[in-house]
This record gives sequence, structure tokens and C-alpha cells, in this order.
Amino acid sequence: MVMHRNLGPFDTTAIGHGEMPLTIENNRGHAVGLETLHASLDAGCRHIDTAWAYYTPGEEEQTGEKLTREALETWNGPRDEVTVATKIGLRRAWTADGKPDWPRDGKPEHLIEYGKQSALALGVDSIDLLYMHRHDPEVPYDQSIEAIKQLLDEGVAQWAGVSNVSIEQLDIARGILGDKLIAVQNQYSPVHLETQDTLDYCAKLGIAFVCWSPLGGYRHPYDDSKFDPFRAVAAKYGVSYQQVVLAWELAKGDHMFVIPGAHRPETILDSLKAGDLNLTAEDLAQLP
Ligand SMILES: NC(=O)c1ccc[n+]([C@@H]2O[C@H](COP(=O)([O-])OP(=O)(O)OC[C@H]3O[C@@H](n4cnc5c(N)ncnc54)[C@H](OP(=O)(O)O)[C@@H]3O)[C@@H](O)[C@H]2O)c1
Repeated sequence: MVMHRNLGPFDTTAIGHGEMPLTIENNRGHAVGLETLHASLDAGCRHIDTAWAYYTPGEEEQTGEKLTREALETWNGPRDEVTVATKIGLRRAWTADGKPDWPRDGKPEHLIEYGKQSALALGVDSIDLLYMHRHDPEVPYDQSIEAIKQLLDEGVAQWAGVSNVSIEQLDIARGILGDKLIAVQNQYSPVHLETQDTLDYCAKLGIAFVCWSPLGGYRHPYDDSKFDPFRAVAAKYGVSYQQVVLAWELAKGDHMFVIPGAHRPETILDSLKAGDLNLTAEDLAQLP
């Protein structure tokens, strides 16, 4: 069984499935996307992380939310056990020089629209967990968060989260959303330790910290040697170093969640085993 933890009111898996690689550019197609989500659900994953903006620019018809809905509707398992999180506040576009981009849009009236579109795409009356994806510097953060609150008040979503936030932004969100704010989703991995302050603050507040790109992501070059200590521990147990990375993140506290991404079943199935790995104090002493 994949390790379970409480994410706010949800009894879900500490290792979720980051859906993004299945629908943004360089994905391996619809059939592989469905197969990959079904493989992780069959293996016991009960947390899917997607977003309004998880599609290839120009291919708005094939979004992560729609794929998630289809995967759940065509799956034989217990749908009601699965927590689905999505995010609003980003869009997709190509830059003038042909690179995929993530323009921000935190205008309250647009967020209200996006939230309703997300519920429709997911095929739910009310979204389990809705994140504000990233601050739009052209809109004061409290105004965007007020829109998230309105979506909660209208029942479009049940619980809220914030993503890519500083402690200051988290405090603004807490002031508006109160106990309805159950999760922070920030980048955290051996190559991105700079959000440690928010990770510690979430522990103090008792709210979930969800690591995005917990394995360092696949789109940007990074210093691969940062994973060497994880490779050393992995060799001891005969597992992938990715499992050690995820287990190390989960060992940072009971409030920790990880949402590894995958382009194919093999990698997510391997990642889901990380909860079985009990790192010793000696192992952890070798890691950051
Ligand atoms: N809130 C935000 O702003 C934000 C931003 C980015 C991402 N996210 C979320 O975070 C999720 C994960 O991020 P990510 O997909 O960028 O990066 P990631 O999880 O750090 O890394 C994914 C890469 O790691 C590989 N991988 C995964 N498990 C593996 C294993 N056990 N063994 C070997 N390789 C493994 C995958 O390989 P294959 O390609 O071979 O399958 C893929 O290339 C996203 O899906 C999304 O839900 C959120």
C-alpha cells in the first residue's frame, strides 16, 4: 500500500501523481497518459495533481484536467478515495522565439471563470483542492486570493491551497482563507532547497507542504552531482535514487507530500514505492 497521510481533511497518499508531463509539450500522447494514470491508481495512488494550465500551448482541447477526469471515469477502482487537486492563475502561450511559456493571470474575474472551467473539465460539482498557481505581479495578491475565497464560498471548490509563495504571501492567504487553506505547493528538491523557510513555516502552522518537481524536474539543466549522496544511499538498499529523494522529502515531517511526475507508467510505479523505504538516522545524516 502506498503511504497515506492526512492532507487537511483528506486521507490520501503522501506520494501523489504529478500529472503535468502527460499533457504539456513533449508528452507521449493521450493513450500513454491514460495508461500512466491508470497504472498509478491501480498501484494505490490516491492523489492526482493537475492544473488548468497543463496543456501544450495551442492544444487547449487536451488538458490535464480532462485527462484526469477521463482516467477516473474509465477506472474500475474506488473514485471517491481519490483526492484531485488543481490550480488556476496561469495560462499557456508560445513566446515570440517559439518557446513554451506560462503567462500569469491573477485577475479576480478571470480566476472565477478559470475555477468554474476547472470544475467543469474535471466533471465535479466541487473541486477537492484548488490552488492559486502563482502570483500575478500586476494584481495585488490579496485580490487574487479573495477570488479563491469567492470560489470556496460558492462551492466551486472545497479547500484551498497556494503555490509558489513566500512566507509573506502565505500569511496574506491565511488572513483571507483562514482554516480553508490546507496546503502550500512549492518547489523543493535536492536542487531547489531555497523554499526551506516555507517548509518549516508550514510545519509550525500544521498545514501540508507539497513538493513540486520533487525529483528536480526534467525541463531545466541542473547540477546533477547534488543527487550523488542519494545515489550512495540507494546503492545500499538496491533501489532507485529517485525513491531515496522522495523518502528523504517525506522524512522532513508528517506535513510533507510529494507529487513526482512521469511520462510513462514505469517511473511513477517506481516512485510510489518510496513510502516503503525507511531511511535510518544514519542515512539521513548523509543527506541535505
Ligand atoms: N505548482 C507549480 O508551479 C508546479 C510547477 C511544476 C510542476 N508542478 C507539479 O509537480 C509535478 C512533478 O514535477 P515534474 O514532473 O516537473 O518533475 P519531477 O517529478 O521532479 O521529475 C519528473 C521526471 O523524473 C523522472 N522520474 C520520476 N520518477 C522516477 C523514478 N522513480 N525513476 C526514474 N525517473 C523518474 C520522470 O521520468 P520519465 O519522463 O521517464 O517518466 C520525469 O522525467 C508536476 O507533474 C506538477 O504536477 C507544479
